[in-house]
Amino acid sequence: MSTSNSAKLTIHGQDYDLPVMSPTAGPDVLDIRKLYGAADVFTYDPGFTSTASCESEITFIDGDKGELWYRGYPIEQLAAESHYLEVCYLLLYGELPNADELEKFENLVTRHTMVHEQMNNFFRGFRRDAHPMATMVGVVGAMSAFYHDSTDISDPHQREVAAIRLIAKLPTIAAMAYKYSIGQPFVYPQNDLDYASNFLNMCFSVPAEKYEIKPELSRAMDRIFTLHADHEQNASTSTVRLAGSSGANPFACIAAGIACLWGPAHGGANQAALEMLQEIGSVDQIPEYIKRAKDKDDPFRLMGFGHRVYKNFDPRAKVMKESADEVLDLLGIENNETLKVAKELERIALEDDFFIEKKLYPNVDFYSGIILSAMGFPTAMFTPIFALSRTVGWIAQWKEMIADPQNKIGRPRQLYVGSDKRDYVPVDSR
Ligand code: CMC
Repeated sequence: MSTSNSAKLTIHGQDYDLPVMSPTAGPDVLDIRKLYGAADVFTYDPGFTSTASCESEITFIDGDKGELWYRGYPIEQLAAESHYLEVCYLLLYGELPNADELEKFENLVTRHTMVHEQMNNFFRGFRRDAHPMATMVGVVGAMSAFYHDSTDISDPHQREVAAIRLIAKLPTIAAMAYKYSIGQPFVYPQNDLDYASNFLNMCFSVPAEKYEIKPELSRAMDRIFTLHADHEQNASTSTVRLAGSSGANPFACIAAGIACLWGPAHGGANQAALEMLQEIGSVDQIPEYIKRAKDKDDPFRLMGFGHRVYKNFDPRAKVMKESADEVLDLLGIENNETLKVAKELERIALEDDFFIEKKLYPNVDFYSGIILSAMGFPTAMFTPIFALSRTVGWIAQWKEMIADPQNKIGRPRQLYVGSDKRDYVPVDSR
């Protein structure tokens, strides 16, 4: 990053020089940190549409070209040639591991997948019909009550232990949340299984019957994890950073990220997208829903379409679409009505002026639900799967922030439009 240029800002006839920071890739960034002190003004940017909240080396998105890189590596290459735990290593430490480093890392994660046995009791406090995301927010937050020896954020070793614990235990917790919601016994992790197979096994095996793990499905699951692993400063990652900026422990921060991810405009969109496709039901119903999506007076939106940053095809959606075809083929689900609706909806939306003008393309959530549902997951599990995949991104970003000497508590200001100063009026005089 260099700061060779400067921009001039004139306010009430007075000039102020703002340093211009040039990133490795992406638009230049105006450094306004000293602006308030110098000019007594704030900047206004609800939704942070033009604001860089931090410096980061982890992930880059080019929304116009539809590109996503983890540590410089394009997502398409990682999805095709790498696998999730290698990607986790890359996100956490900045480089691809050599064979020895990878083996050690995989071993470390695998040997931390069990959760404290007392957590079983903690789960039992939730209603059976609780949404698994509600359970996950609570249980992940409670990890700070179970793992005291990794909550001192000033100790780099403890930060490292917390990162490994979170990456290792999130699939176990998500699977437990699922099992609890359907009244089945919890399934312990198995160290002889890879990360994705282990998750499938914890979700689908029962004591009465062995679950046959199809390698192709494990591969598809692993790819879903990889595609969701990080996504720059999105709402949940920013939530994790903001929570962490106050010095909160990592488990509390990740619980905050999970809570934010749950919303239908963010990670909750995968559940909402599949429910929408099922509600549409058949191809002949699509025009009605397109009409509703265009109607300004109707709050309905095409779920799985649009993105704050991508103004082109979401590169993750492309890989996801290929994966959906492979998985449905493998499972012999050919004439799937939901998939037909999805493909036709995508075709119509991509040709429709409204969607073209607003640059609304399918996003990652449009196809992921189809794969997950074909694998046997209920819609309520879609967002927990997103959450467990994104945990590595959250924790990598959190670690980067804590290690950054420029780290300060996040504290935005506001444009106050409330009442002017006034005197209190006693109740009998109002
Ligand atoms: N269907 C219909 N119209 C839409 C849609 C949609 N899915 N998305 C945006 N628009 C319209 C919107 O009404 C607005 O129109 P106008 O300019 O006339 O007011 C325009 O497009 C711009 O939308 P916006 O809400 O200002 O854009 P945003 O950047 O604030 O929102 C978004 C981005 C992802 C929240 C939004 O596109 C959306 O709600 N999409 C559906 C939910 C979804 O699929 N979310 C998953 C995002 S990808 C995974 C993740 O990040 O978690």
